[in-house]
Amino acid sequence: MDIDVFTLFPGWFDWFRTQRHVANALALGHSVECVDLRATTPLSGGAVDDTPFGGGAGMVLRVDVMEAALRARYGRDPVELRAERRVIALTPGGRQLDDALAAELAAEPALTLLCGRYEGFDERIVEHFCTDAVSIGRYVLAGGELAAMVVMDTVLRKLPGALGHADSALEESFSPALEGAPEYPHYTRPAEWRGWTVPEVLLSGHHERIREWRREQSRRRAHE
Ligand SMILES: C[S@@+](CC[C@H](N)C(=O)[O-])C[C@H]1O[C@@H](n2cnc3c(N)ncnc32)[C@H](O)[C@@H]1O
Repeated sequence: MDIDVFTLFPGWFDWFRTQRHVANALALGHSVECVDLRATTPLSGGAVDDTPFGGGAGMVLRVDVMEAALRARYGRDPVELRAERRVIALTPGGRQLDDALAAELAAEPALTLLCGRYEGFDERIVEHFCTDAVSIGRYVLAGGELAAMVVMDTVLRKLPGALGHADSALEESFSPALEGAPEYPHYTRPAEWRGWTVPEVLLSGHHERIREWRREQSRRRAHE
C-alpha cells in the first residue's frame, strides 16, 4: 500500500515511521510519504490559507493550494484522481473511523490523506478532490496530522506481516471474529498479586472452556 500524507508539518511523521509495526510495513514494501503543502503553493511567502468568506475567526486552507500540491504529486487534475485512489480529508465532522472502515481502507492499494489546519479546509477541497471525509472522534484537534497517524496506525497494523503475530489483529476489539464486541480481558504472570487472582478457567488448560469464557466476557462488555 502506498500512503501519501499532505501536510504543513511533514516532520511530525519522522517519528511515526520508526514505530515497530510501521517500520515493519515499510520494510515489506509499503510506503508512507509526506507532501509539504508549502512546497508547491502558488501564493507568495509560502502562504497556504486565507480569511473565511462571510467573516469569522481563523484561517481556511485554500483550494488552489491543495490543487497545486495534488497536481504536482500526481501529474493530473485531482478531480480525476478520485477514480484511482481513495483521497481522504481528515475532518472532525466526517465519517467516524471504526474497525470496519479501517479494514476497508486496508484493502486499498493506495491512500491519500489530507491534513487540515487552522479553521479547516475550503469545502471545495472535500467536495471536489476527496472520496471520503473521515473523523477520528467527536472532538477537535489542532490539525489533521495526529488524525492521519491514527488512521495509518490502524490500517497498517492490518497488513499481513506488520505485526509480530499475524493472529493479533484477527481476534481483537470490534473485529468480526468477536462480532464487533470489545475484546475479553487478558491476564499474565503472576497468577496472584496483592490477593488479586486470575480467573480460574484461564489456568485450567481447558481450551474449549477458555474460548467460551472469553466469548462470554466479550459479549458482557458489549452489553455493558
Ligand atoms: C482546528 S481543526 C478545524 C476544526 C473545524 N473548524 C471544525 O469546527 O470542524 C483543524 C484540522 O484538524 C483536523 N482535525 C481536527 N479534529 C479532527 C478529528 N476529530 N478528526 C479528524 N481530523 C481532525 C482536520 O484536518 C481539521 O481541518
